[in-house]
Amino acid sequence: MDNFTFYSPTYFDFGKDSELHAPQLIKQFGGSRILLHYGGGSIKKSGLYDRVTDSLKKAGLFYLELAGVKPNPRSGLVYEGIELCKREKVDFILAIGGGSTIDSAKAIAAGSVYDGDFMDFYQGKATIEKALPVGTILTIAAAGSEGSPNTVITHEETQVKKGTKSDFLRPRFSILNPELTCTLPAYQTAAGATDIMIHVCERYFSNTKEVEITDRLCEAILKTIIYETPRVLKNPDNYEARANIMWAGMLAHNNVCGVGREQDWASHHIEHELSALYDVTHGAGLAVIAPLWMRHVLDKNPDKLVSFAVRVWNIDYNMENPKETALKGIEAFESFLKNIGMPSSFDEIGAKKEDITHMADKLMGSKTTEGNYVKLSKEDVIKIYESAVK
Ligand code: NZQ
Ligand code: ZN
Repeated sequence: MDNFTFYSPTYFDFGKDSELHAPQLIKQFGGSRILLHYGGGSIKKSGLYDRVTDSLKKAGLFYLELAGVKPNPRSGLVYEGIELCKREKVDFILAIGGGSTIDSAKAIAAGSVYDGDFMDFYQGKATIEKALPVGTILTIAAAGSEGSPNTVITHEETQVKKGTKSDFLRPRFSILNPELTCTLPAYQTAAGATDIMIHVCERYFSNTKEVEITDRLCEAILKTIIYETPRVLKNPDNYEARANIMWAGMLAHNNVCGVGREQDWASHHIEHELSALYDVTHGAGLAVIAPLWMRHVLDKNPDKLVSFAVRVWNIDYNMENPKETALKGIEAFESFLKNIGMPSSFDEIGAKKEDITHMADKLMGSKTTEGNYVKLSKEDVIKIYESAVK
């Protein structure tokens, strides 16, 4: 196991009606002038917006609103949010929604206390040294932004989707009420489950040896998602299944599964080019890319793929042909993704063969390799994209 530090100060309030604790938590974490940040209207439809704003009014808290965060959040709304926060002296941001809203809130939080262009943080030109405090009310189990230091934003003019991270961006509190996820369309539920699985895989596929504790944690999360996702797709109101998925989503990405080990992240970076260019749902893009990445790296480094097959997918270990074991694991994963309604090809997500070189160029930039489990060249990345053209 490698040396590591782990800092995860977010206060989690998990369970039914927990959104009603928002005013009390905002006060506890020093907020008095609040920006409510949310997406395209699902929170109004579900009644969550009314419940939260009523509770803020009752608590005598001042708030402003900035709605309209789109999936794969864009820089334009972030600039608007920064201006609003500076002008109105906002001291706390409450993000209500999924990863897109939370990531946009984090960008506003960092940009509001920075003199330069907030995109500097995403372009590697500056490091985040402070940020307004952010709290979240999560409505979709997926991105894990509720417990992560990460934020991913698409720069509108260049269509470049890039992430940055800082412990200053970890939410002060995150409210996780699994009931709020019952209104999710099946596709978003499945895409969220896929994202959670790949957050684990990016850490699981590692060359670091003797990391039994994090390996077993990773496998537990993967098995939970495999068990619970079909149950919620069959019965969207299954509270217990929603609850297990929601907590799995947090554990998958607050890095408790990633400490002390090398991580990969190639599948994510390869996918981000798809969601930047075609506005694909991130989890659906991962459903296309991750199994193809596994197939691509199988020959070069089969070890962890064999563990994945045996421990996660209950494939019998064939000592004489470990590669065959690994392949059966990948096939089991592909068939799981198909059964939950996820795509497996460029066609299904509206991606185009003729953009492959452009995406690979954008992804690699000045880098010579991508990922760590197997270090991919630009040609490897191109081959992975090409294998999605069916
Ligand atoms: O905008 P509204 O109307 O709320 O609709 C949303 C949106 O259309 C809808 N939705 C959310 N909760 C709902 C609901 N609809 C009905 N009922 C509910 N309870 O779902 C759609 C997707 O929402 P979004 O926030 O985009 O989903 P997700 O959480 O998957 O976030 C995706 C974004 O997070 C980034 C992705 O790249 C993508 O931009 N990621 C962020 C990470 C991080 N910050 O740590 C890590 C991830 O790897 C990921 O890259
Ligand atoms: Zn992800």
